Amino acid sequence: MAADDKPLAPVRALRFALPAALAVTLVWAGAIAATFYLHPGGGLHLTARFGHLLALAAGFGAVVVIDACGLLFLTGRQGAAQTMRVVAAADPIVWLGYAGLVVTGALLKPDLSSTLTWLKLGAVLVTGLNGVHARLLTRELSALPGDPSFRDLRPFQRARLLLSGTVSQAAWWTAIVVGFWHNLPPGYQ
Ligand code: HEM
Repeated sequence: MAADDKPLAPVRALRFALPAALAVTLVWAGAIAATFYLHPGGGLHLTARFGHLLALAAGFGAVVVIDACGLLFLTGRQGAAQTMRVVAAADPIVWLGYAGLVVTGALLKPDLSSTLTWLKLGAVLVTGLNGVHARLLTRELSALPGDPSFRDLRPFQRARLLLSGTVSQAAWWTAIVVGFWHNLPPGYQ
């Protein structure tokens, strides 16, 4: 069964994507600006670090569930309907985790003089913007009639799905590895 060829109205997509991408960028920039004013003491810093790890477990955990489901869809072992149901359930947890990482991160006094910190913060922004595109794609695929397989999708949809999954993993892992590496005691770096 071929996928319905009627794409999501571009204007409607832009009406969602542009404000969402702007909101992600403003929150990201606001968190970085806040680090100039927030100087949490030991107790709050430790609590923020614990919160950072909890938000990581929730947000990235949900990303792994979504990308694992995406892999089942890509390999033809699951249709779009089941995949989109799981994505719709896990997506809010990704955004909650992401928001938690950004808020707690702002309390962790990031070293903004370090290139590695900016590499990580760049990956954090890409993670958020890619999340906006992924939500747009999920809405588009959920609107398709029936239960299309990956092969039934249009080439452009398949390319966007592959790109979205690849960017998601690359950006999250960059933020995780740099965040962990940056935090290693001097003797280990
Ligand atoms: C996708 C978003 C993010 C991910 C996946 C992430 C991941 C991590 C990880 C894995 C660590 C190491 C934790 C540890 O060893 O205890 C860490 C530490 C850190 N992160 Fe993030 N982070 C994110 C966002 C942010 C943001 C937005 C900021 C700043 C605005 C930030 C600032 C920091 C700082 C300063 C540390 C060192 C913590 C310390 O002093 O102990 N992170 N991050």
